[in-house]
Amino acid sequence: MDLKSKVILVTGANRGIGAELVRSFLKHDVEKVYATARNISSLPNFNDSRVVPLKLDITSKEDVAAAVNLVVQLDILVNNAGVMTYSNVITSSIEQLTEDMDVNYYGTLRVSQAFTPLIEKRGGGAIVNLNSIVSYAPPLAITGYSASKAALFSATQAQRAILKTKNIEVIGVYPGPIDTDLAKDLPLDKASVIDTAENIVNGIIEGKEDIYPDPTSSQLAQLWGSNPKALENFFANM
Ligand SMILES: NC(=O)c1ccc[n+]([C@@H]2O[C@H](COP(=O)([O-])OP(=O)(O)OC[C@H]3O[C@@H](n4cnc5c(N)ncnc54)[C@H](OP(=O)(O)O)[C@@H]3O)[C@@H](O)[C@H]2O)c1
Repeated sequence: MDLKSKVILVTGANRGIGAELVRSFLKHDVEKVYATARNISSLPNFNDSRVVPLKLDITSKEDVAAAVNLVVQLDILVNNAGVMTYSNVITSSIEQLTEDMDVNYYGTLRVSQAFTPLIEKRGGGAIVNLNSIVSYAPPLAITGYSASKAALFSATQAQRAILKTKNIEVIGVYPGPIDTDLAKDLPLDKASVIDTAENIVNGIIEGKEDIYPDPTSSQLAQLWGSNPKALENFFANM
């Protein structure tokens, strides 16, 4: 997809991958980037007049409705906002498990449902969902989070099939461990957030449907592609 003159919205743009995605998009000839955050005072200064700060808690119906009214035109929606709890599908309470689902699954779907008509009105565009390599199989420390990302993976495939006729590309991004606050307590080697964001934006430009933006995710996606059970066993033994 050519980014020239595109209007883009990024959720969770105040830190981590979201903030770097905004910076990466700004290197291209885009028209406008809505940098959204739960609390707009937490947004960095992107030093670019094409950036429009916007309040958007993806779990809030009111915030989503207000954002849709303000945005009016949109080509690319980037569903980046997410949380990761260390919950366990056997021992954690349903209330604990709900946190990942509310943000990563229902929150993301709420935003997609609300903004899709705007993208449709432009004659097409793209929805980019930040899934995870753990969408494909669960590491034991984060089984509640993995389940929410597996649900989002399924919704990504469904959105792609449903929106094909509307000229809306639906792109899944499946990172491995990236050096952000979200992954700070994971004792793993992590990829640079700047490289990750660059690779995601380049993947969008190249028209990829599935983006593996770091070396670990590329390697694990190959394993999953050749033998899904092997990835399940790899994560089960981590
Ligand atoms: N880092 C990794 O290793 C990794 C790997 C695979 C996938 N991912 C995915 O990549 C995405 C970005 O993760 P990250 O690593 O950049 O995480 P991060 O540094 O923890 O940032 C998470 C972002 O999501 C926002 N957010 C959380 N709940 C929200 C809500 N209800 N409404 C709006 N924004 C909300 C946060 O805002 P606040 O500052 O207000 O909390 C923050 O901007 C997530 O979907 C994550 O699951 C990350």
